Amino acid sequence: MATILRDWSYRYPWLYGGISQVAALTVGGEPRFRRLLLQDLPLTGARVLDLCCGGGDVTRYLVAAQPQTLVGVDASPKAIARLARNVPTAEGVCAFAEDLPFAAATFDVVVCSTALHEMTASQRQEILTEVQRVLVPGGWFALADFHKPRQPWFWPPLALFLALFETETAWELLAVDLPAVLEPIGFQNIHQRLYAGGSLQVVRAQKA
Ligand SMILES: C[S@@+](CC[C@H](N)C(=O)[O-])C[C@H]1O[C@@H](n2cnc3c(N)ncnc32)[C@H](O)[C@@H]1O
Repeated sequence: MATILRDWSYRYPWLYGGISQVAALTVGGEPRFRRLLLQDLPLTGARVLDLCCGGGDVTRYLVAAQPQTLVGVDASPKAIARLARNVPTAEGVCAFAEDLPFAAATFDVVVCSTALHEMTASQRQEILTEVQRVLVPGGWFALADFHKPRQPWFWPPLALFLALFETETAWELLAVDLPAVLEPIGFQNIHQRLYAGGSLQVVRAQKA
């Protein structure tokens, strides 16, 4: 599904930015939205990976936490070029999240903001397995993404957004229990928090 608006939102960063800002109003504005998945993570002095970083909308907030190293990975060369402009202190790596070009146990923290909804179930499994591999034991993973709303009045705006901008994989994610997916991959201390009437989830988990 999806519409031409999806292509435009990828082609024109200002359009993607505008949409993100409107969507973020449901959680109190864009800065709060971008920081939600960073709450309580041990970022200072850590080796941090922003997975599927896009143009760095979350990466820029990671800089403020003064990590030891900060790497952004994205499959799109254009996204990596935008990251270089927007967050010059981060190292940009163009790669697929399913096949990360890093040794095991390279990172203390991995974050992934609003990207898993673009993946098929098998891609998602591969990516989460890669996240587990590149984390040190005890390292933290945090993700933010769509979730099936708990309050009925959040369904119409979410359904409109998904119909205009997303594909089937976003609808499929609504039926997935991400904490239950993470556990068999090798994560523990899994914690899910819901926002915006349940339509947004932030999940934090620690590598066992
Ligand atoms: C919706 S954007 C989110 C970008 C950013 N994390 C944010 O919060 O604004 C999803 C990003 O995932 C990237 N992406 C999609 N599939 C990917 C894959 N298999 N491996 C790496 N990056 C991927 C896209 O290029 C895009 O930049």
